Amino acid sequence: MSLALAARDLDALESQVQAALRSGDYRDFDVLGHGEDTLVLKVRTGEGTFACKRLPPFPDYERFQRYQDTLADYVRRLRAQGITVAPTELRYLPHGRSGGVAYCVQEALPPARLCSNLLHTRDLGWAKSFFARYLTTIERAAGPTLGLDAQASNWFDLDGELVFVDVTTPFLRDSRGREQVDVDLLLTSLPWILRGAVKACLLKAATDKYYSTRGIVLDFLGNLRKDRLEPLVPVFLEQANEVLDNPLSSREVARYYAGDARMWALVQRLRKADRFWQRTVRRRPYPFLLPPAIRR
Ligand SMILES: Nc1ncnc2c1ncn2[C@@H]1O[C@H](COP(=O)(O)OP(=O)(O)O)[C@@H](O)[C@H]1O
Ligand SMILES: [Mg+2]
Repeated sequence: MSLALAARDLDALESQVQAALRSGDYRDFDVLGHGEDTLVLKVRTGEGTFACKRLPPFPDYERFQRYQDTLADYVRRLRAQGITVAPTELRYLPHGRSGGVAYCVQEALPPARLCSNLLHTRDLGWAKSFFARYLTTIERAAGPTLGLDAQASNWFDLDGELVFVDVTTPFLRDSRGREQVDVDLLLTSLPWILRGAVKACLLKAATDKYYSTRGIVLDFLGNLRKDRLEPLVPVFLEQANEVLDNPLSSREVARYYAGDARMWALVQRLRKADRFWQRTVRRRPYPFLLPPAIRR
């Protein structure tokens, strides 16, 4: 499948990104959205309008190919479990001898249909019916070897169908619980000081939640706060507890969010310090597009 973003348009985007990384000025980008890690850029061409997410750099093509295979497996598994995944394509741009960069390319979907936006613009009846569909979808898909980061900002509602977009972290484990993705690769955008520690002890704890309905729902509810949607928490809790064996409480949601927010705020601060160090002391461009500060 090809989403038909022409090579020259992708090259032009990458040149623009390179210039922005050198200058630190992101104003020329048309940003569709962002998560904790990166920006999703809008590219309009004669062929259509695309959502392009720049991934952490790859040291070589082989590492890229392995990641591409894992991502393809992941999308296949999600689809087999009944999740509608937005058509997604990975594109690789070699960077001379120093590896390459890759973009995750999707069709740009209408921001008004993003579920975290719809939960603001539609009424309570819509919210409840959305969450009922959401719970069914998650329950059917999540399990010990297949997980997903299913915050409201990762779903679009297109003609009544929930469409999942955030697939660049493939939550796939083997039967012994080992992550299938090249974890080091995904952690390269973390300041080096964090990597060893994150890997050694935080990784399993940080990702376990994505492999169970309860953990996914806890993360979803906790993050409603970031989207200023807290009033919906009690409503959704009641719905969720109808299907969960081990019910959730609003205290657990609040405690979870406080912990999650603290962790991400720390990562964000360390990244900024790292960027400052690289640019002013080492005098080289910082290689990642950082999202703007997130209000928590
Ligand atoms: N295909 C798309 N069309 C339109 N907007 C998108 C698309 N993919 C992502 N976005 C926007 O970018 C945001 C971040 O994208 P996401 O894939 O969730 O990245 P992250 O891993 O940083 O959370 C989304 O919440 C949404 O606002
Ligand atoms: Mg996301």
